[in-house]
This record gives sequence, C-alpha cells and structure tokens, in this order.
Amino acid sequence: MSTTTRIDNKTDIKIAVVGSGYVGLVAAVCFAEMGHDVICVDNDERKVSALQGGDTLIHENNLPELLERYRNNKIRFMTDLGEATRTCDAIFIAVGTPQSETGDADLSYVEAVACEIARSLTTYKVIVEKSTVPVYTNEWIRRAIERNGVARELFDVVSNPEFLREGTAVSDFLHPDRIVVGANSDRAATVLSAIYAPLTDGEYYTRPDHIAGPCTADAPPPLLLTSTKSAEIIKHASNAFLALKISFINAVSNLCEATDANVEQVARGIGLDSRIGPKFLRPGIGYGGSCFPKDVAAFRSVADQLGIDFNLLTEVEKINTHQKKRFLSKVRSALWTLRGKRIGVLGLAFKGETDDIRDSPAIELVEMLLAEGCTIAAFDPAAMKRTADALPPGPNLRYVEDAYAAADDADALVILTDWQEFGTLDLNKLNTALRYPIVIDGRNLFDPQVMSDHGFTYLSIGRPAAYPVRELTASTSPTP
Ligand code: UGA
Repeated sequence: MSTTTRIDNKTDIKIAVVGSGYVGLVAAVCFAEMGHDVICVDNDERKVSALQGGDTLIHENNLPELLERYRNNKIRFMTDLGEATRTCDAIFIAVGTPQSETGDADLSYVEAVACEIARSLTTYKVIVEKSTVPVYTNEWIRRAIERNGVARELFDVVSNPEFLREGTAVSDFLHPDRIVVGANSDRAATVLSAIYAPLTDGEYYTRPDHIAGPCTADAPPPLLLTSTKSAEIIKHASNAFLALKISFINAVSNLCEATDANVEQVARGIGLDSRIGPKFLRPGIGYGGSCFPKDVAAFRSVADQLGIDFNLLTEVEKINTHQKKRFLSKVRSALWTLRGKRIGVLGLAFKGETDDIRDSPAIELVEMLLAEGCTIAAFDPAAMKRTADALPPGPNLRYVEDAYAAADDADALVILTDWQEFGTLDLNKLNTALRYPIVIDGRNLFDPQVMSDHGFTYLSIGRPAAYPVRELTASTSPTP
C-alpha cells in the first residue's frame, strides 16, 4: 500500500459522521472546513435541533465560528442514519464507548450503528471507526455488517483514530502530528487518503482564512497507513503512554517532596532530553477526563483477555488514584483538622479551558473535602452549571461568581484545575479576601517565591513549601 494513492474527484467525497459528541462534532465541522460535504447524524433529536439552530453544545475553541460558517450548507445535521448512509461515500462512527463495570469499553453503541448502516448499504461504502475502541473492533464491525446480509465487496471497515485534546480539538484536527489510517484494502485506503488530502498535500494551509496551527504547506502532517489492528492499538497505546508519563512525573514529584527538590526543575531537566520530550510532565492531582481513565482501563483489560501481563498500567492507575489522596493530606497538613473548615475551591473541570467534568479529579477532591466535613465555595469559569447538576449546592457547598468570592473568608484556597485565568489573579486582592492566606495549589500555577512575597503560605506539588516573607523572617530571626 502506498501513502501516495489518490483519487481524482476528492472534492466529491461525501462524508457522514455518526455521533455529535466531542469527536463527532469536531470531525464533522473540520471535514467541512477542509472542503467536504458532511452530514452529521445523531439519534438524539434535541441535540440535532439545537445544532441545526446554531448551538454548539460544547465549549471548544473555533467551533462556534466554523459551525456558523458551514451550518446548513457544507454541513447538515439529521437523525436519519439510513439517509446519511445512502447519500455518503464514507461513514465515520464517532459514538461513545463508555467504560463498562469490568473496565472494558462498552461497544454496544458502535454495534447498533454498524447494524443500522448495514440495513441501508446497497453500494460500496467505507465505514470508518473513529471512536476509541479496542483491537479487533474493526473485525467485529465487519462481521456485524455481514451478518445483516451485506456482501463483503460492498464495504470496507477502516480504523482512523483521533488524537484530539478537548479545548484545542479543532486545531488538533486540522494540525495533527499524524493521521493514522488502518486499512486492509487499497480501495478504502485511497478514499481515506483523498479525504485527508487537503491537509497532507498542504493545500489547506495556503488558504488565507485557515485555522492557524503548527502545520504549514511546507510541513504538512504525515498520513501513516497501517493495518486495522495496528491503528486500534496505536490509539490505546498513545493514551496509555501519555497517562504513564503523567503518573511517572507525579511519582517523581512525591520523591521531590520527600527530598526538598523541585519537580519543575527535574521535569525540565529530563524533558530537555529529546528522547523524552517536555510535554505531559506537569505534575498535579492526577489525570482525569473522558479518555485517559477509561482508555487505560480498557487497554489493561484487552491485555488481560489476551493473557498479556501489563501490570505497568495497573501501577499507572494506582499512582493516579493515590495522587488525589496525597493532595487531601496536603490540605490537612496545612489546616491541621478539616471538619468545619471553609475551603475556597478554584476549578471543577478535569482540566483548564473546558467545561467537561467527566472523571474530573477536581470534583473527586471536592467530594473528599465534603466527606471530611468542610464547607466549600467553588468557582470554575465554565464548568459550574454541569457540576451543579451532578453535585447540587447545599448547606456545605456553594457555587460562586468568581475566584475572589471563592476565597472570601475561607480558611484556605485550593486550586484544582489549571485554568489560565487563575494564573493572572490579583494576589493582593486574594490575600485580603482569605481569612487565612493559605493556598494549596494542585496544578503548580504560581511561582512559590511570588506567593511568599505576597504573604501566602503556599503548598504546591513536588516543590518546597513557601511561607510568607514576614513569618519566615520572624521564625528564622534569632531569639532576643
Ligand atoms: C486526551 C489526549 O491528550 C488526546 O490526544 C486524545 O485524543 C484524547 O485524550 C482522547 O482520547 O479523546 P484530553 O482528555 O482532552 O485528551 O486531555 P489532556 O489534555 O490529554 O489531559 C488529560 C488529563 O491529564 C487532564 O486531567 C490533565 O489535567 C492531565 N494532565 C495532562 C496532567 O495532569 N499533566 C500533564 O502534563 C498533562
């Protein structure tokens, strides 16, 4: 198979994307931005009519602008998967694959979509799995379609995993490090290569209004053609490796705390090694979100089922769980006892610049603090509504309008999400608002020296604690 296989009429390829979640909606909008005609299908009528009306449903940079530009011309939203299948050449499945009780990915939505596609298949189609799925799913989709009476030559199933991060998903899609296409037939590989040609041949980056990012016409992204199984494993292995990097630096941060070393210096020192790289070495309260926890568990479960010893992943998960408990101990160490303490909480989303709270370590910590008997005033720039739906306000939990209101009269302020705007807070105002100027930072947003200069007791992750300059002077000056 050659990566240069092309088809002539690439702009005539019609694409259906099934599922309008983070991956589906972003993929649909970005395919339209690349010049394709797209139908985005969802079986949730409310979602479809909201999208038809211009609602983006998710908080994602560049998405509202692109949706506004292409809605009802290059991209249509509908509930009818049969019609979308009949109209389109390639059908991308981007439905949820939640974690089942055993840790496996629950593939029932993928199966249901495959069967429904099969019922409308009369001419050749490429069916593309874009959801994160375990190895062998491609074969299961093929079997499910065949079982529904579709002839083998009428379709191919391709694996085209996505590496989008929430918050920067549009730019990640249009400026990928790589595009992975797992295909076992030349015909299907040719269709996928044509779909991505505007990116891989650099043409997209010459357009005056293209979304900015690292790729250029001279340095377009590579398209890697692999077998379907390799592509499936690439996705799980990528997420598992990134999670491993985070757990590794979190374990190192604990070592730094025990020795009074500074994890920022250590991370920089190891990250400058080009074989290691500087990214995903930020210590914190553990990884969360809808992907890493689920995907590490699913990858571990795949290994178990295949009889492969991959206990390394169990350790990655253990460190991640432990990191939240360690942070709680840190809060306790600053406040002595927790019952009845008033805590200001900054951040509820699983990471900054998103409103997503799925598997958010911040929310787990809020729950842990509540269980310890604390009273919480919480603020998040985008995730408060979602959090309040899941964790309704009550006598011990309030959602407040800004960071200063969260700090107001609190015994300590804890930072749980790395929102950029938290890093630019007015420290004097924050100090005045707090009852005691104590900040426990689970995301290392501040320079300890600056916090000390502003009169805070400041505890962070893997760095020596900082104390107010005044207090330090008093305790270190010789006794009269
Ligand atoms: C992750 C991957 O980064 C994407 O490549 C992948 O496509 C996506 O999952 C997916 O499978 O759909 P995402 O979940 O949006 O993307 O978030 P990340 O930016 O990767 O962060 C995940 C978690 O790790 C967050 O809780 C974040 O705070 C934490 N993190 C990240 C750290 O604690 N330290 C770091 O250095 C980096």
